[in-house]
Amino acid sequence: LPSGHRRLLEAHRYAEEFYRHLLLNTVEGEEALNYLYGRGFTRDTIEKFGIGWSLGNRESLVTLLKRKGFSDEELSESGLAIIPDNGSGAFDRFRNRVMFPLHDTNGKTVGFSGRVIQKAGNEPKYLNSPETPIFNKSEILYNYHNARLAARKSGNVILFEGFMDVISADEAGIQSGVALMGTAMSDKHLSLLGRVTNEVIICTDGDNAGWEAARRFSRMFPTNRLDAKVAIVPEGLDPDDYLKKYGGEAFRDRIIGQPHTLLSFAMMYAKREKNLKNENDLLQYIHEVLKELAGKTTPVERDIYLKQLSEETGVSVDALTSQFRKSE
Ligand code: GTP
Ligand code: MN
Ligand code: MN
Ligand code: MN
Ligand code: MN
Repeated sequence: LPSGHRRLLEAHRYAEEFYRHLLLNTVEGEEALNYLYGRGFTRDTIEKFGIGWSLGNRESLVTLLKRKGFSDEELSESGLAIIPDNGSGAFDRFRNRVMFPLHDTNGKTVGFSGRVIQKAGNEPKYLNSPETPIFNKSEILYNYHNARLAARKSGNVILFEGFMDVISADEAGIQSGVALMGTAMSDKHLSLLGRVTNEVIICTDGDNAGWEAARRFSRMFPTNRLDAKVAIVPEGLDPDDYLKKYGGEAFRDRIIGQPHTLLSFAMMYAKREKNLKNENDLLQYIHEVLKELAGKTTPVERDIYLKQLSEETGVSVDALTSQFRKSE
């Protein structure tokens, strides 16, 4: 481990402890703590995930870390502080935010994501650490270090869109959840998943962004190595909302327990904004599904999904089959 890395990890340990203390033990942290309780998170969960609070002052973490011997240079390199161009000193990057530690695959804190409690202007809802020598978003899966152990029992990993969904699922006893940090899925993410499971259940939000994300994720799975399925959350809810509204048992039975195959999901996706009573939509739908089936499908899968397509559209299996042969 380069000594620079060790210093950056040390700074993150101090920061996590500082933020945690502010949330749990100070008057300044009360509003944030009530916010988390109001969302239904327990004290145990808050402590397990190392959640904290950052003060609104310009230099509270900076002051602490300087007292511990860190230079402006090191603070800036860690991403925990920013050095402005105008020559004034380093200041805290994270202010007035609920702080979520982000861990590397070994469970060491290497960055943070901070959430505002109340949106006041056009500031981002979540602010993440910048890329640093120890924090690389394309190599991080939130909760991976816990999920890898849980996946041995559950036999799968659940890929959520938001880390709040991961935390909620954990509280409901579903510990094999991970999330990307709002970034595209990389080959590194895929190989991390492949190392601990052979089944990934994609479970994104029940809105347009969530469906798009599920479609993007699903296309990245090489079906021969990692089996992926898609669990659908009802429109207007995300997994966290669903868990809080209907509980863990319902989530397990009706959502995670009833995942769709990638092909079936692709059909649902193609159908999502179409009205099959409209001729153009109907033809477009058939075209998209046949294209999907022309991919890496087995003859049995083709048979199953052509039958399903025939039932949905009222077009005969014979006509669909000959159309399919032409497009192949
Ligand atoms: P809550 O509103 O706290 O429940 O968040 P969420 O978990 O529902 O997150 P959301 O569905 O809005 O977004 C999913 C993920 O996208 C988050 O976990 C973040 O990683 C990322 N994300 C969302 N908003 C922002 C943002 O303003 N900035 C950045 N950098 N990432 C974001
Ligand atoms: Mn930690
Ligand atoms: Mn969303
Ligand atoms: Mn969400
Ligand atoms: Mn949410």
